Amino acid sequence: MTVMVTGGAGYIGAHVVRLLNEAGVPVVVVDDLSSGIASRVSGVPLVELDVAASGAADAISAAMTQYAVDAVIHFAARKQVGESVGSPVWYFQQNVGGLANVLAAAEQTGVERFVFSSSAAVYGMTGDHPVTEDAPLSPINPYGETKLAGEWLLRDAARAFGLRTVSLRYFNVAGAGWSDLGDPQVLNLLTIVLDRIAEGGVPTVFGTDFDTEDGSGVRDYVHVLDIATAHIDALEYLGRDERQYDVFNVGRGEGVSVLDVIAAVSAETGRDITPVIAEARAGDPARVIADATRLRSETGWTAEYGFDEIIASAVDAASGRPIDPPHG
Ligand code: WQD
Repeated sequence: MTVMVTGGAGYIGAHVVRLLNEAGVPVVVVDDLSSGIASRVSGVPLVELDVAASGAADAISAAMTQYAVDAVIHFAARKQVGESVGSPVWYFQQNVGGLANVLAAAEQTGVERFVFSSSAAVYGMTGDHPVTEDAPLSPINPYGETKLAGEWLLRDAARAFGLRTVSLRYFNVAGAGWSDLGDPQVLNLLTIVLDRIAEGGVPTVFGTDFDTEDGSGVRDYVHVLDIATAHIDALEYLGRDERQYDVFNVGRGEGVSVLDVIAAVSAETGRDITPVIAEARAGDPARVIADATRLRSETGWTAEYGFDEIIASAVDAASGRPIDPPHG
């Protein structure tokens, strides 16, 4: 069983590649290195290509044949919500078109299992908490729409040619499993906070008038290693013939506020951080917390890392300090 990991040189992808590699599972990475970093997957075969490029399906198919791939974990996608609002056509071309190319190659070469990197962004303005997989699917930005369209395409592929697929809807991923695998992009709260204080500045809190305990936004932060093991558990789960198509939330089921995140970084770094308070971002829900019961009951997955480890590992990765090896 060789696993192809598209986007495998990226933040989450590289964690999955390293865990699979350490477990002795043959892996081949496909990545265009537009944001991925080749050194993160050194020692693993790397096919440098843009899965969304025209003609990519044939190149991906050739790689699947060359490496005898029978399972795919698909991370390769654009993930910036704000960018997707300004460039919706490009986001569909990249995220849905890229997935379609990988699926075309999977159909051509007889790939059996497919794990798809989806997102809590498919829920949009979530109402009930925690959010179950049966909550209304009403994404409020093109990024979330491309992830939902991807889930539909996978369901259609499962029905059409028997591909066994799972879509994993991540909540807020953060932290690092190794100090060289920290999130390299400054796009989400924790990396933004760390980046601001590294530059001697302070972070901005978008909104303190939400209907939450301290008024700031509440999210379900989940360690990137827990996200990575969810993919490996999903691959094993797909080994059972009776499953054709499933969707699972991946989160800890606990909400943490923006102000709590900033206070935790302040305590971990010993830095006094007094944030700037600004208006809430348009479309930002007050609270987004996962119900991951189904993933737990179907695969046995559980979140092994708590909020403190998320913060400590992110701070260590940002400062280049070694991080304790992942839990055995
Ligand atoms: C978290 C909280 C902000 C920055 C995103 C996207 C998508 C998905 C999950 C992959 C919110 C607040 C943020 C800042 C702040 N990832 N914030 N100051 O919006 O929950 O979801 O991540 O699928 O990328 O859906 O993540 O990190 O942008 O915001 O106050 O400088 O932090 O308002 O409450 P979000 P985020």
